[in-house]
Amino acid sequence: MKFNLSLPGSPARVSEIIIGKDVLEQVSGNLEKALGGRSAYWIWDEAVWPLWGRMAADLGWWRTEDRVIAFAASEPAKRLSAVEFLARRLITAGADRDSALVAVGGGVTGDVTGFTASIYMRGIPHFQVPTTLLAQVDSSIGGKTGVDLPDGKNLLGTFHQPRQVYVDPRFLKTLPDEELRQGMAEVIKSAIIGDEVLWKFVESHSQALRNRDEESLLRIVSASCLLKTRVVEADEKESGGRRVLNLGHTVGHALEKLSGFSLKHGDCVAVGMVVAAHLSCRLGAMQVSDLERIENLCESWNMPVRIPAQVSADAIVKAIQADKKRIGGKLHFILPVRIGEVIEYTGLENDELKTVLRLLGAAS
Ligand SMILES: NC(=O)c1ccc[n+]([C@@H]2O[C@H](COP(=O)([O-])OP(=O)(O)OC[C@H]3O[C@@H](n4cnc5c(N)ncnc54)[C@H](O)[C@@H]3O)[C@@H](O)[C@H]2O)c1
Ligand SMILES: [Zn+2]
Repeated sequence: MKFNLSLPGSPARVSEIIIGKDVLEQVSGNLEKALGGRSAYWIWDEAVWPLWGRMAADLGWWRTEDRVIAFAASEPAKRLSAVEFLARRLITAGADRDSALVAVGGGVTGDVTGFTASIYMRGIPHFQVPTTLLAQVDSSIGGKTGVDLPDGKNLLGTFHQPRQVYVDPRFLKTLPDEELRQGMAEVIKSAIIGDEVLWKFVESHSQALRNRDEESLLRIVSASCLLKTRVVEADEKESGGRRVLNLGHTVGHALEKLSGFSLKHGDCVAVGMVVAAHLSCRLGAMQVSDLERIENLCESWNMPVRIPAQVSADAIVKAIQADKKRIGGKLHFILPVRIGEVIEYTGLENDELKTVLRLLGAAS
């Protein structure tokens, strides 16, 4: 399956998303065509390299291994220092303004590689080969790149669309359960935002998905990618419509930050989605039966659905306000109205939010 992310206003104009069980076999041929003799440099997560490097070499992705650079792609290492490390390695390896980068790894690898590509010699093309579920359904699509500062996540970054994204579920065979769960939270989010058929598929195929059945993974990855693609096409730079993708993220980001990032992103988003569903029910916008479906599906994936007891409602609201100040806007809360439809709500009172947070276990 192949579809384009068309961005008429963007210099890249089009990003090609290629999804399937055999797409890795197409990488070298396609890249050669796309690059017309220019060189690709391969940026790998050093933890993924021992698992999948041999397969890539056997598929002939590169002619010489000195075009391969592995780096420590953990969240704490998602810093400018990683960009400098990669840029210097690229200089040594001979990369110039006619070169291109290919990211092979999860969201950290993709974000750091995309950022480096966007500024290396004033910008070179990049390609993405995402290897986590989260990267396959979310971070590799949409062109956001970036690194963290000690003050917060993704505070430095650019929009730089990858030329092509190769999505192959076979990588997910080696992904730890905990990481699969983080990606599933984003899949469930996509389903709530706009795809009831995807929702029903996830509900009815949970065992196959847990067993990493490739057909089932392919089905959910394709649907999620398509949904994100369509949303980004309508609003590349997040001036409006793209905000629906923030379902569960307002409270989710606050929880992540308050836990000192010991709670994982997808888990925090799951709690955030449950908070949004409760708010929506209290406002009379959604039926309780849909709220129960959301809680049940998240719980069936071992995602948390309650606020950790040591976190107070006041602290969460404060963290949300700080975030809101940072982005200089109103608090836009995305609320589900049913499975497959969300609305943007700007009239949320802090007290109403605190009541729901306490109801869901937050300390006073
Ligand atoms: N650019 C965007 O639009 C966007 C969107 C969402 C998230 N993000 C960013 O993405 C990052 C999170 O992405 P992530 O969850 O992929 O994290 P990650 O890149 O840290 O990967 C998670 C873990 O899985 C390991 N891993 C990767 N592929 C594997 C495989 N096939 N088998 C075994 N282990 C594997 C990694 O080494 C790592 O330990 C965050 O930094 C977040 O800010 C960006
Ligand atoms: Zn997210």
